[in-house]
Amino acid sequence: MKKLLIFGASGLVGKALVEECKDSFDVYGTYATRPVDLPQEKQFQLEVSDTDQMKDMVKALRPDAIISCLRGEFDQQLEFHRELSLEIRNTESTLYYFSTANVFDGDFTKHHTEEDTPNAASPYGKFKIGCEKMLQELLLEQAVMIRIPQIWGKKSPRLDQLKSGIEEGTIDVYSNLVCNHLTDELLAKQLKYIILHHLKGVFHLGAIDMMTQAQFVEELVGNLTNKDVTFHDCLLEDKPETFHFGLKSIRNDLPERLVKTNRALISDLV
Ligand SMILES: NC(=O)c1ccc[n+]([C@@H]2O[C@H](COP(=O)([O-])OP(=O)(O)OC[C@H]3O[C@@H](n4cnc5c(N)ncnc54)[C@H](OP(=O)(O)O)[C@@H]3O)[C@@H](O)[C@H]2O)c1
Repeated sequence: MKKLLIFGASGLVGKALVEECKDSFDVYGTYATRPVDLPQEKQFQLEVSDTDQMKDMVKALRPDAIISCLRGEFDQQLEFHRELSLEIRNTESTLYYFSTANVFDGDFTKHHTEEDTPNAASPYGKFKIGCEKMLQELLLEQAVMIRIPQIWGKKSPRLDQLKSGIEEGTIDVYSNLVCNHLTDELLAKQLKYIILHHLKGVFHLGAIDMMTQAQFVEELVGNLTNKDVTFHDCLLEDKPETFHFGLKSIRNDLPERLVKTNRALISDLV
């Protein structure tokens, strides 16, 4: 069985990956504060600042695939991934790195594909571009970039927040933000497929169609409850123009069962 090491296995994305992969791979995972649903000997408390412990772990386990779904202080994350790359670059390990739609948040004039050059305005987007570039330079094809939009899950903070809004009877929505979404469960299935089929390069994962954030939230709420909820229409950055924030893909290597619309994701969530 192939060995899989997940950095950040206790997070939203990490937990879904553990659940999806635990029967197909020999899975190991790290957490910072919340232990993981893995046997005791297969989980490790690891701070992103502790690169020595990370290197010891990688040396001892020699994982076939490493997934990074960490958060933490940006400079520490950059250093962590630089040291990780140097540790694995002469090995057979492949690194799957979670990046974000925010690598394009400096250009909202169109949705972006894997062929577009990242252009970020936010510190988060700029940090992710820096980390992507460093990994690509050090690891070439050994690093696979997984860019994702907002992730929803049945137990995600986002859905919990929406449920609180339903209780309160009012929810803010953005009618000028057009984007796609993804669920933790579908993302885990997609990444498992990418690993098992040794797919390489940059991936934009997300629903295949676009919706305004307002449409997505209103439809999701409509499927969750019969209660009367007031949607408070907001404009992103208080500007009337449309903000395009979708991750489009020009790749066609995922099978049909792993490609879904925003509406199908909404049905999966309720
Ligand atoms: N969720 C989204 O909508 C979204 C969208 C785009 C991109 N992403 C990217 O996808 C990745 C995963 O996101 P997520 O939503 O699953 O994040 P998350 O739920 O916040 O989980 C983050 C993981 O990192 C660990 N962590 C946090 N601070 C740490 C530190 N100082 N040292 C070591 N570990 C630390 C957490 O450990 P504990 O939980 O044990 O504290 C957890 O395992 C991230 O890289 C994020 O940038 C996420």
